[in-house]
Amino acid sequence: MVHIIKGQGERGLSNRGRFGKYGEIKRLERLALSARGKAQHSALLSAEPARKRRSPTPGINFKLRAGSPGDRVFVRSLSQKVFSVYGPYDEILDQWFVEEACMSFVALKKGARIGFILIGNPSVSASDMDVEILALAVEPVLHGFGVGSALLSRAEKVLKTMGIRSLLLHTAVDNLQAVGFFKSQGFITFESRAAFYPRGQDALSMKKNLN
Ligand SMILES: CC(C)(COP(=O)(O)OP(=O)(O)OC[C@H]1O[C@@H](n2cnc3c(N)ncnc32)[C@H](O)[C@@H]1OP(=O)(O)O)[C@@H](O)C(=O)NCCC(=O)NCCS
Repeated sequence: MVHIIKGQGERGLSNRGRFGKYGEIKRLERLALSARGKAQHSALLSAEPARKRRSPTPGINFKLRAGSPGDRVFVRSLSQKVFSVYGPYDEILDQWFVEEACMSFVALKKGARIGFILIGNPSVSASDMDVEILALAVEPVLHGFGVGSALLSRAEKVLKTMGIRSLLLHTAVDNLQAVGFFKSQGFITFESRAAFYPRGQDALSMKKNLN
């Protein structure tokens, strides 16, 4: 997630999704409970220790598709939930989603949106063509089921076909979950940046070659 505020972006959007904010939260909690119940059941049957992750077969079924303007309220609402500790990212990501991103993908579970990835426009340097992951987020109740890695790998696949050679991102030093996740996906840290975010947190810059 990056830090530059490129406009005010005050849009007066409704915070109510298809099922209303409260209904959507309850629906996602039910999906997570059902997925975790199934994971526990299969662990009992196999008499093996329960594992949170069941890679390569995730504990839930979900689909991915390209992002569209209809995803805007969801992107804003999930960003508010997971990124507001770093700054007004509901506003910032809403604007990037509409104006700055070159592509996005959304994950869906039984028709409900559960995660997204937002990719910035390519920038060309002397030796490489980079793109930046502007944001990647999954509904907190569905972390650890392979949704984040599926979104990332879909984006990587498409970017490779576009000739993109490397991926860049920033994540907060204290966001251990995200740092662990990105390391597990092949990213390496190449610098740290003090007070990178609007609320003052330091960031790590991470990079991955797409070969
Ligand atoms: C980071 C994030 C997108 C990961 O999504 P996710 O769906 O939970 O991740 P996955 O289930 O695909 O995890 C894949 C791998 O990442 C690693 N991983 C995931 N969570 C981890 C953690 N807390 N610590 C260390 N590694 C972790 C694991 O190695 C896992 O592999 P495994 O399947 O073999 O166990 C999610 O935690 C999130 O939305 N966080 C809030 C938003 C955020 O901070 N985004 C990043 C900055 S843009």
